[in-house]
Amino acid sequence: MTRQIRLNAFDMNCVAHQSPGLWRHPDDRSWDYNTLDYWVDLAKLLERGRFDGLFIADVLGTYDVYAGTDEAAIRQGAQIPVNDPLLLVSAMAHATENLGFGVTTGTGFEHPYPFARRLSTLDHLTRGRIGWNVVTGYLPAAVRNMGDAGLLDHDARYDHADEYLTVLYKLWEGSWQDDAVRRDRAAGVFADPEKVHHIGHRGEHFTVPGIHLSEPSAQRTPVVYQAGASTRGSRFAAENAEAIFVAAPTKTILRDVVARTRDALVAAGRDPYDARIYTLATVITDSTPEAARAKAADYRRYASDEGSLVFMSGWMGIDLSRYSLDDPIGAVESNAIQSAVAAFSQADEDGEAWRVRDVAAWGGIGGMGPVLIGSGDEIAETLIDWVDDTDVDGFNVAYAVTPGSFRDVVDHVIPALDARGAYQSEYRPGSLRNKLFGRGDRLPDNHRGATFRVGGSASTIDDSTRAVHVGA
Ligand SMILES: Cc1cc2nc3c(=O)[nH]c(=O)nc-3n(C[C@H](O)[C@H](O)[C@H](O)COP(=O)(O)O)c2cc1C
Repeated sequence: MTRQIRLNAFDMNCVAHQSPGLWRHPDDRSWDYNTLDYWVDLAKLLERGRFDGLFIADVLGTYDVYAGTDEAAIRQGAQIPVNDPLLLVSAMAHATENLGFGVTTGTGFEHPYPFARRLSTLDHLTRGRIGWNVVTGYLPAAVRNMGDAGLLDHDARYDHADEYLTVLYKLWEGSWQDDAVRRDRAAGVFADPEKVHHIGHRGEHFTVPGIHLSEPSAQRTPVVYQAGASTRGSRFAAENAEAIFVAAPTKTILRDVVARTRDALVAAGRDPYDARIYTLATVITDSTPEAARAKAADYRRYASDEGSLVFMSGWMGIDLSRYSLDDPIGAVESNAIQSAVAAFSQADEDGEAWRVRDVAAWGGIGGMGPVLIGSGDEIAETLIDWVDDTDVDGFNVAYAVTPGSFRDVVDHVIPALDARGAYQSEYRPGSLRNKLFGRGDRLPDNHRGATFRVGGSASTIDDSTRAVHVGA
């Protein structure tokens, strides 16, 4: 049977998300990012295309690694200005039935206690369609503006995130039993205090003694997304993530990243397919191959090399303005996205070393991922080939122009995938988690978060070892 390809759309609450300079293209509507109409129209379009979800990236700082200043980023509109991703979701959820929403928030910037409530609120309002992209942050400017001296070291950020997630799992899974809310009018009992547990968390970074403020939502823990493919990042993803986002410029690199990610899942005691792996790709398509190529050539005229180097410097944690355009990207130590440096430190598909000039051109459309150009049939064949060859589950589709690039995928690529039986013909019912895995709304029993459950109604875990019970 043909494997079903999964699609996510990749956007951010800013202009020209991964395609610096393309906001100048007459077809681009990304500068409507600060209107609900843009987001609601996009959500409806993606649902028409049966996308699993809309993944909304976020950073809480500026890209000021390039030339040591934020001037180029501001001039280029390179993910600045940038608005909050979570506030977009309610309106889009109200306008759709099935689309999932993956929102990005950093573990270094907000205490887990209020954050747990905000995501529970969204899980209630979306009726279980919320996912959370756990990021540890890579921009030094974000940390400085939160009053800290600098980024924690790369691996220490993940250690901090481990405890952050522990607090969240305790709140989401280990505070309110499923039958805690009684709404018993006759007895005058809304919720049974015997069944609402204080989590009693005392750790290295956080002290959270009390109960979760929200009653259980459809999924309790939102679907956990994670991006990052360094050794430590892969381990963190394998222990927590249900959807893993990777970015690899070539099929060869992707094959290796997927194999390592599946191995890491097994090492974490899970099935290699317990997390869906999506790889970043931008699709430029049209009704004929010629029209698609002409469209791509037109888009390329608007891509900004400076904007691209602003992003690449931020992702790699290296000021690329200090290098000549012909310098190779060597094996550089990075305290930002280690997988970003690793990808470009290897030879390209032709065996050539990546130079700064190549990386600038590469990042002009679609960030670190490849740009796939062709008719709907050609793209469908390419996606199927990548999935067969690399064992990736699907694609995190970025745009060149929005919503045009997404509309083109829906109109040209989805019918071609449908014709090949390679795409879901309808959504599964229920929550985002059930739509992705068909195993119910809650975390599976072999997931780390499930060990924090209380009450026994959704699992076999005994609560006495995990939660501190405080009587009525
Ligand atoms: C496809 C992709 C999308 C990402 N999106 C975000 C994002 O929106 N915000 C963010 O702060 N970090 C983002 N990151 C960075 C990761 O969350 C992670 O911090 C980074 O990849 C470091 O991980 P690594 O060194 O383990 O690769 C993204 C990374 C990848 C590969």
